[in-house]
Amino acid sequence: MTSNARSNIAVKTVDRGFGALFRYETSKVVQISSIKVSVIYRLIQLLIIAYVIGWVVVYKKGYQDFDDVVSGVTTKVKGVQYTNLTGTSIGARIWDVADYVVPPQENNAFFITTNAVVTRDQTQGACDEDPSVAPCFSDADCPAGKPQMLGNGVNTGRCVPSSQAPNKTSCEILAWCPVEVDQLPAGGTMFPEAVNFTVLIKDSIEFPLFGVKRRNVLDYYNSSQLQNCVYNPDTDMYCPVFRIGDILKLAGIDNFTKIATVGGVVSITVNWDCNLDWDASYCNPTYRFRRLDDENTKIAKGWNFRYANYYRINDTDHRTLIKAYGLRFVVYVTGRAGRFNVIPLTMNLGSGLALLGIATVLCDMIVLYLHHKKVIYRGAKYETLEDDDAYRLMNEEDDGLLSETSQDARQRVRASAQVLDPPGGNYGAIE
Ligand SMILES: *[C@@H]1O[C@H](CO)[C@@H](O)[C@H](O)[C@H]1NC(C)=O
Repeated sequence: MTSNARSNIAVKTVDRGFGALFRYETSKVVQISSIKVSVIYRLIQLLIIAYVIGWVVVYKKGYQDFDDVVSGVTTKVKGVQYTNLTGTSIGARIWDVADYVVPPQENNAFFITTNAVVTRDQTQGACDEDPSVAPCFSDADCPAGKPQMLGNGVNTGRCVPSSQAPNKTSCEILAWCPVEVDQLPAGGTMFPEAVNFTVLIKDSIEFPLFGVKRRNVLDYYNSSQLQNCVYNPDTDMYCPVFRIGDILKLAGIDNFTKIATVGGVVSITVNWDCNLDWDASYCNPTYRFRRLDDENTKIAKGWNFRYANYYRINDTDHRTLIKAYGLRFVVYVTGRAGRFNVIPLTMNLGSGLALLGIATVLCDMIVLYLHHKKVIYRGAKYETLEDDDAYRLMNEEDDGLLSETSQDARQRVRASAQVLDPPGGNYGAIE
């Protein structure tokens, strides 16, 4: 290639680039009378309209304004358990709600004790540490003043016989004495009756945007009905009283004894999905239950924690230490309400109408690039005219893109822009 030819190409490229600046484009309507293409065009339009009306507006409620739920939950557990564990630190006793619901009030949650290690009458003093935490052979193993971080107190410096296990010795510590013996008294759960305990969940909600307030305790229950009803997803789905055994079953837990022995966490989801185009009395909750802890973990299973009850005798502090195992229920409230509003409706319809442009783009592609008469259609769609003051760098040896004579142009304009698609497939009429 000579350098002359190369510079020629460069000039042409520049010419086309600048040429675009000096070319005005106006739209022209080309009607194509083709049954195939027009059927495709109408089908695509129909699909888009069906999508906008059916999915966006009707199914996804595109005609509504939405608001999220604001909620407050309180719970009240009912039930008693008698434990006959004479010979242990628990003894024969009754456990009522104030005993086994710890703490008495929580935000969106409640805990029911189902097993416990109770250590009575602890006072501050010196005693032997748990031998599994602080084993020793001589006083040298128990440096004085060193805290037993995983145990219960601070070393006194002595190694003493253990009161928990015969033939063993452990460090003596300053602590709440005697220290806890971390062993569950009963074989399984201490609270087999807990399966029949019930809980009333009171949930008051509001959709602030619409000023609508609802409660899950519906007005059509009177107080005796409320006392006697039990939630059942099939027969009594609006009763706000839940049997613990039912909650666990609906969460997929069949073995009550197993979960009650080591404890566990279960979520209760109250879902308010409301269409406020109907009366607010149709706005009612549904409930879902799910186990949150993994029962198959190898270590640190279940749910437990320690707390103490303090009292004072003869100017000495005493306490009862309780390591409680049990079921923790967490209440989640979710929900959304919708109500008709013109603004989302017009916005959704507007964006839906804009989608109709896709039909034109797709059919243009078919007609200009895929159809077997694409060359003819393209010829009819794009037309270049030149005015006397047209921008030109190259003259007669141009590649023809800009060099159409005004004679040709006039002839082209005279030819109708309408392209007919007769059944015989004769397209000769264009030139
Ligand atoms: C729970 O209540 C049912 C029905 O009242 C009773 O048959 C069942 O024995 C109770 N379960 C326990 C563990 O007490």
